Amino acid sequence: MARKGIVLTAGLGTRLHPMTLAVNKQLIPVYNKPMIYYAIWVLIKAGCRDIMLITSEADKSGFERLLGDGSHFGVNIQYRIQYVPNGLVDAFMQAEEFIAGDPCMLILGDNIFYGPGFPAMLAKAAAKTEGATVFGSIVPDPERFGVAEFDESGKVLSLEEKPKQPKSNCAVVGLYFFDGKVMQIAHELRKEIPADQEVSITDVNRRYMEAGTLDLQVFPAGFAWLDSGTYESLLEASNYVARVEREEGRIICAPEEAAFRAGFLPAEKLREYGEADKNNGYGQYMTRLYNEVK
Ligand code: G1P
Repeated sequence: MARKGIVLTAGLGTRLHPMTLAVNKQLIPVYNKPMIYYAIWVLIKAGCRDIMLITSEADKSGFERLLGDGSHFGVNIQYRIQYVPNGLVDAFMQAEEFIAGDPCMLILGDNIFYGPGFPAMLAKAAAKTEGATVFGSIVPDPERFGVAEFDESGKVLSLEEKPKQPKSNCAVVGLYFFDGKVMQIAHELRKEIPADQEVSITDVNRRYMEAGTLDLQVFPAGFAWLDSGTYESLLEASNYVARVEREEGRIICAPEEAAFRAGFLPAEKLREYGEADKNNGYGQYMTRLYNEVK
């Protein structure tokens, strides 16, 4: 059975002010498409058709205007509001009824992934029915992220959230696969951790590590995990996408293309989208895809 997918977009994006004062961070562009498209693309690549997007009350209408009920991408998208910004795990817990005890995957709406071997890595994580999978990226500044220390066999030895002295340079990225126990774990942690402190996603992952059921997949060299959280990294992400698209002569991370290739959308839809958007490169790419596959 395909997993349910949860996207979190509830953060305040304060590091990008004033860009994000009136617009949610995940609605601003990375080169030629809204940031959230990259996360939707990952979910579709992983085979997700049922998606819940969690956002703030103020931002919900913007996402609805952009993504609607998901049918444009051949998926179902539901929306849920996190009323009080109380961290990532609290936002994730808003999806409890939606998940209904099933395995799920969680993506942070500002994480961008592109590189060799990604579909196979996603398929491996999706096929694991017990435990959890996290992904690691080797970075120069691990103290900004969740950090995984692991041994030669790939076994995770420790997980720390934004440690001052990181035990490795492996950042745990914002993409997680969980089995049906994840909500129970989140509730247990919520009871244990003082109410005025956030439960971090690293706390949740650590539980799986302690149970011996956590997998870590480290991205290979040449894989791009892009952080779009600061002025500089947002510009770098846009430049990266523009460069790859120029070099490859195609648009990358287009959810419509992933949906077509997954069998979620008929080719006819690509033709329709191309017709509707003749005067821009995105629409022209849809027409090109249609002509290649029709
Ligand atoms: C969150 C997680 C962190 C992870 C990061 C990836 O941090 O808490 O473990 O490495 O996302 O983007 P945040 O970006 O919310 O500070």
